[in-house]
Amino acid sequence: MCGIVAYIGPREAYPIILKGLKRLEYRGYDSSGVALLNKDLRVYKKKGKVSELEDSLVGKDLHAHAGMGHTRWATHGEPNDRNAHPHHSASGRLAMIHNGIIENYTQLKQELMRKGYHFNSDTDTEVLLNFIEDIQKNNNCGLEEAVRIALRRVVGAYVIVLLDKDMPDTVIAARKGSPLVIGIGKGEHFLASDASPIIEYTKEVVYVNDYELAILKADELILKNLGNEKITPFVQKLDLEMAAIEKGGYDHFMLKEIFEQPDTIFDCLRGRLDATKGTIRMAGIQQNIQQLTQAKRIIMIACGTSWHAGLIAEYIFEELCRIPVEVEYASEFRYRNPVIHPGDVIIAISQSGETADTIVAIEKAKESGAFILGVVNVVGSSIARISHAGAYTHAGPEIGVASTKAFTAQLAVLTMIALKIAHEKGTIDTTRYMQLLGELHSVPEKVKEVLKLSESIRGLAQKYKDAKDALYLGRGYNFAVALEGALKLKEISYIHAEGYPAAEMKHGPIALVDEQLPVVFVATKDSYHEKIVSNIQEIKARKGRVIAVISHGDSIIENMAEDCMRIPETDEIIAPMLSVIPLQLLAYYIGAVKGYDVDKPRNLAKSVTVE
Ligand code: F6R
Repeated sequence: MCGIVAYIGPREAYPIILKGLKRLEYRGYDSSGVALLNKDLRVYKKKGKVSELEDSLVGKDLHAHAGMGHTRWATHGEPNDRNAHPHHSASGRLAMIHNGIIENYTQLKQELMRKGYHFNSDTDTEVLLNFIEDIQKNNNCGLEEAVRIALRRVVGAYVIVLLDKDMPDTVIAARKGSPLVIGIGKGEHFLASDASPIIEYTKEVVYVNDYELAILKADELILKNLGNEKITPFVQKLDLEMAAIEKGGYDHFMLKEIFEQPDTIFDCLRGRLDATKGTIRMAGIQQNIQQLTQAKRIIMIACGTSWHAGLIAEYIFEELCRIPVEVEYASEFRYRNPVIHPGDVIIAISQSGETADTIVAIEKAKESGAFILGVVNVVGSSIARISHAGAYTHAGPEIGVASTKAFTAQLAVLTMIALKIAHEKGTIDTTRYMQLLGELHSVPEKVKEVLKLSESIRGLAQKYKDAKDALYLGRGYNFAVALEGALKLKEISYIHAEGYPAAEMKHGPIALVDEQLPVVFVATKDSYHEKIVSNIQEIKARKGRVIAVISHGDSIIENMAEDCMRIPETDEIIAPMLSVIPLQLLAYYIGAVKGYDVDKPRNLAKSVTVE
């Protein structure tokens, strides 16, 4: 959460920073600001989206060759101009932006207040900045040294970037727990929370590690640890194209990303799955196949939509691999005292690879000797780097805050991993194995079919847009799809929605059913079909309005439901990759019809780098 971007070099810094902030806005959009360093240090900031900052800066002096910008997802202090970043130090000499949380900021603040410091904001950032300035004053040292001393006292997660009026040729940044990428240009340097603001200018990047400090000048990059030892930067080439981070004619990134799914699933399978030869090639899995086949237990750790992918994978792994699976919210797992044995395998699922709770949960499991397999979308992200092995989902940059294409790619990867383990272990017979490989191979084409429902779902969105609540029900592999459909609806359209196992509904939620309540059934043809038909009867008997995602030709449910979304038939294990798509579209169109900013739903951020 929070996006940061900085530039130093011969070009005008402001346009680069502004464009970068727009690309990073998915990380938070409560307020934004820029600091521009020339002979003076100018800070401009504003509550609201980056476009509001841009409008407010018309006519201002924006000339500078070094600068930084921040787009905020509020943690300490409400979103307003005062709490927006960058912050100035008490003397006005320094400015700083920050992504993360300083956990011991109250203690630091009290120390500073006893020394007579006053604060203009409610943020932990301003406290840390003044703490740094105070250290510099007391130790009569350079800014770099003061930052190092300060960070040794800091508890929490951060990326910080500092500008000093007295050092117009230098940008200083440091990282612990929040992402930071440096772009290396010709006589210029870029810095950002992810590669999207950098890709336009250079493909040479360095991912800064925890406890590292970067000192950037136009033509020099120095990396050091907190002990002041130099580190050789590891320069990598970005495998990312500009087109991947632009809207490409769609109204919203979310719609574009929903429509990209035939390609993203294809990319995810490409080079890995050969349905004719019956092979699955995944280097990270193959190299650790013994560890995986011998696992006594698998624990899936994730948050939000990625957790839903884990729930579906639980059913798949238990069915195919006969290994017990638990699915944990990373935020719960990290704080309790879970029993972890050295032979346990943790599968950490994350689109961003930067979710703070998932990172800490991984570290905890690692300490107990578990083997960590990361299923991650963002290449080079923290989770990808701290996992023992992994498989990328290759869905490309996901900009819309609501996760769509990353989810189906996670399912594709997890299904391949399960099939590979099952095949090696001999817990699946060859006929079934070959059949599932064939089904998986046909998913991209079937997704294209599902996407043809788009216009009719837009019509349904008009019809149901004024609902106050909605219930989403599914069984078996489609149970977590119901949870995901409900999550999508609430985050995009602000309609209260609950997902439930269809049979569990009569233990409580059925009390909500009346002639107003839309009840969305995910009821494709599978081994639970008869049972879910009974659940639909139960809702209809209470006059609930039934909307159903069904397989083509399912006349039984067609005759019962008020509205149907028909998708191609597939194996029940594969079905979630198709059945979730009408629910993504329904949530998208309801949000869009209601005029909401679906790419940036209120209070949310794409990458949750605070706990
Ligand atoms: C919902 C959504 C979130 C994320 C969650 C985990 O649409 O996007 O629930 O799934 O914050 O994020 P990652 O997968 O990046 O760890």
